[in-house]
Amino acid sequence: MTMPAGEASPGLTLHQISVRFGGLVALDGVSLRVAPGRTVGVIGPNGAGKTTLFNVVCGFVAPTGGTLTFDDRPLRPRPHRLTRLGIARTLQGVGLFPSLTVLENVQVAAPGATDRAWAELDRCGVAQHAGTLPGRLPYAVRKRVSLARALVARPRLLLLDEPAGGLGAEEIEELRELITGLPCSVLLVEHHMDLVMAVCDEILVLDFGKPVAHGTPDEIRTDEAVADAYLGAAT
Ligand SMILES: Nc1ncnc2c1ncn2[C@@H]1O[C@H](COP(=O)(O)OP(=O)(O)O)[C@@H](O)[C@H]1O
Ligand SMILES: [Mg+2]
Repeated sequence: MTMPAGEASPGLTLHQISVRFGGLVALDGVSLRVAPGRTVGVIGPNGAGKTTLFNVVCGFVAPTGGTLTFDDRPLRPRPHRLTRLGIARTLQGVGLFPSLTVLENVQVAAPGATDRAWAELDRCGVAQHAGTLPGRLPYAVRKRVSLARALVARPRLLLLDEPAGGLGAEEIEELRELITGLPCSVLLVEHHMDLVMAVCDEILVLDFGKPVAHGTPDEIRTDEAVADAYLGAAT
C-alpha cells in the first residue's frame, strides 16, 4: 500500500495499523484504502478486529502502530470532529435520542437544513415516521433513521458498523439497495457475508486481527484462506 512519493491518494488510507489491548493484538498491520466513490468491505469472524478497525477510523481507539490519512493529510480522528472532515458513521447499536422525534433526530446532524433532513428520511424509506419517537418504532426502522442522520451531514465517506445486524432477510435486501445507491464512498464493516459480497467493490478479510485476503467479491468468494477463517470460526 506504499504510495510513490508525490502521488495523490484521495480518500481514506490506513497504513499498517496495529492495535493492542494489553497482551491482545486486535489489529496487526492492517492496510486499506477507500478511494472516492468506492464501497469497501471489511469482513471476518467474530473477534477478527472489525469493530476495532472501525473505532480506529472514528477516533474511539488510538492505534498503537501505523498511520491514517484522509485526502493525503494525516488523520488523527476524534469522534466529534469527523463531520467537519466529511466523514459520517452509524454505530453497531442505534444511538438515537429517545425524547426527540425521528425528524428532530436527523436535524440534529444538520441544524436548519429541514429540506435535507426530509430528503434523507425519504431516501432511507422512513419519512412516514418523521413525527414519531424512536422508541415506538421497530429496530429496523430505527436503524434506517440513524442512517438518515449520518447522511444528512453530506459525508464524502460513510462508515457503517454491522448495518445488517439484527435485520431479517427482506430488510437486508432493502439495505443492499440503499447502500448501492449512496452518493459517497463507504467503509462497511459487516459480519453478513452476502451483503458485503453484493455491495462492495473490494473486500478486506481479517482473522485474529491479521489481513488474510484482499480483493474483489469474486476473488474473495473463491479464496481458501477466507473459507478457512470462516469454517474455523464455525466449529
Ligand atoms: N476495549 C477493548 N479492550 C480489550 N479487548 C478488546 C477491546 N475491544 C475489542 N477487544 C478484543 O479485540 C478483539 C477484536 O474485537 P472486535 O474488534 O470487537 O472484533 P469484531 O468486531 O470483528 O467481532 C477481540 O478479541 C476483542 O475481545
Ligand atoms: Mg464487531
